[in-house]
Amino acid sequence: MLCTVREAATGETVRRLGQAWRDFAERECGTYSPLYAAICRSVADDPELLALTAAAPPSGQQPNVLLAAVHYLVLAGIAHPLADVYGGRANPDLAPALFRDLCLSQRPDISQILATRHTQTNEPGRAALLAVGLAAAADLAGEPIGLLDAGCSAGLNLLIDRYRFEYGPAGSLGPADSPVSITCDLRGTPAPARLPVIAARLGLDRSPVDITRADDARWLLACVWPDTGRLARTAAAMELARQHPPKMMSGDMVTDLDAALDTFDPGLPVVVVTTSACGYLSAAQRHAFLAVLQRRARCQPLTWLSTDASGVIDAIPTPPGIAHAGASASVMGLVSFETGTAAGRAIALCHSHGAWMKWAGNHSTQTGPAARIH
Ligand SMILES: C[S@@+](CC[C@H](N)C(=O)[O-])C[C@H]1O[C@@H](n2cnc3c(N)ncnc32)[C@H](O)[C@@H]1O
Repeated sequence: MLCTVREAATGETVRRLGQAWRDFAERECGTYSPLYAAICRSVADDPELLALTAAAPPSGQQPNVLLAAVHYLVLAGIAHPLADVYGGRANPDLAPALFRDLCLSQRPDISQILATRHTQTNEPGRAALLAVGLAAAADLAGEPIGLLDAGCSAGLNLLIDRYRFEYGPAGSLGPADSPVSITCDLRGTPAPARLPVIAARLGLDRSPVDITRADDARWLLACVWPDTGRLARTAAAMELARQHPPKMMSGDMVTDLDAALDTFDPGLPVVVVTTSACGYLSAAQRHAFLAVLQRRARCQPLTWLSTDASGVIDAIPTPPGIAHAGASASVMGLVSFETGTAAGRAIALCHSHGAWMKWAGNHSTQTGPAARIH
């Protein structure tokens, strides 16, 4: 009887995970990563691979983690034909079958990675979004600013003023000779004339990636999707971070937020940024995060700049147009606390890895009492 209950639970988990892989294929990959879209669709209908991920702890069950686990073995130099597909040297139509073969033939290694790693994508492309958002935040709060990146992974976005941003007809920003050049199709606003001066900066992460360790550095690269042209850019940003290590604190972005904020001069306006980090928090943790910011904002100028999927951050209203923004669309939100309560607005629609940004400006404002913070 116990066995039957367990089997039913496993069957239910496999069904749930199948739907998660289908959603990931459509919402996250779409036409942005045709390679991963095809793999994800195939995994969604593969009970054996779904069972492999179902056996992992919850953090290892996300599609991104199995995708990165396989990419990690490829980057480690495993002799498998999938390496040629990922390297653009073989027919991408072979990817789903080869992905399956690699997972099953390397099952012990894959299971070990799923049990010990979680999504740690550190996407410097998001710095192109943050550059525009930081200019708006500094308009509100003044400058110089303090920059606190909560859920910073390896802290690559703390190097924002060392990157070059090419915004197409909207302009460009940053040192022209930077080894990291990021292209973002910016619409609806010109590129900012300059970044606000950053007087102090800190990254906070529950498990900061130490890119001086070969296996951590490889995991960071493994989290990059092979067919999106971002591998070389991420590697260049990692090299820059080795030369100019960003200051980071190991800790929880909710329970250690006070300690992280304590490191800034109390008179300095601090912009707290979260990019694709709040989705990893429970609703209660997100509520607690905003409550800390609201409390701290009584004695220090604070602004919260975020990018995340629509609906993740309750203080940010759903912007018009999100339903038609396509796969991988995120919302950039800005929350200020000038009135003592959180006032959130969606200031842009953007691609989750920074490929495009559609400015909404002052559009879509939501202000409200603390009760709104949930
Ligand atoms: C998808 S990555 C995004 C990293 C980075 N913000 C970026 O945009 O490139 C999410 C990060 O949030 C971190 N994270 C998740 N939950 C956390 C928590 N409760 N406290 C601190 N960091 C957390 C993870 O370790 C991971 O590095």
